[in-house]
Amino acid sequence: MSAAALLRTPVHAVTAGEHPVDALLALYARLGAQRYGMESISQLAHALQSAWLAEMAAAPDPLIAAALLHDLGHLLQEDRHEAPREDHATVGARWLAQWFGPEVVEPIRLHAEAKRYLIATEPGYYDGLTPASRHSLSWQGAALAEDERRRFAALPYARDAVALRRWDDRAKDPSAQPPPLSHYRALLEDLVNPPAAAPFALRKRG
Ligand SMILES: [Fe+2]
Repeated sequence: MSAAALLRTPVHAVTAGEHPVDALLALYARLGAQRYGMESISQLAHALQSAWLAEMAAAPDPLIAAALLHDLGHLLQEDRHEAPREDHATVGARWLAQWFGPEVVEPIRLHAEAKRYLIATEPGYYDGLTPASRHSLSWQGAALAEDERRRFAALPYARDAVALRRWDDRAKDPSAQPPPLSHYRALLEDLVNPPAAAPFALRKRG
């Protein structure tokens, strides 16, 4: 398969009859123990801490979901044994857009760019990043230029992406004990947009 064709292939397709939230939770259960980049916590721990920080900040449910799922792209790339050719934010957002609205998808799509925005606009932000987070700038890109800053700030979900970015930056505490993944099942289920011919049976909170 050509590289272009592979990029068009949906990653980790949800099997017929499988609820997308089941697919999501299964992916975290199966691959969440992977190390979160060069940080000293797992992908799952990082996701749960991010979501808990959002919840503690009284963020709306879609933004809590975005915080939980913001690095899904890493797991999807791991799931198909690929070296990243695309930014994980793009990969995760594209998969989630099958099921979730822009209030979940867009902060995720923008969360890597939000780091570059904060570096450009907030004195001291760069100095507060972990060495691993600074290192990832080598492929994510440096501070946004002035025209890029203006374009980013004007995007409808820029503020949410910046909020998510700040939880992302803090969610690296190996001793934190956030709620488990199951804590977010009902929240995610309520946010799923069933397509007209939904292949799954939606469950609602009982
Ligand atoms: Fe992250």
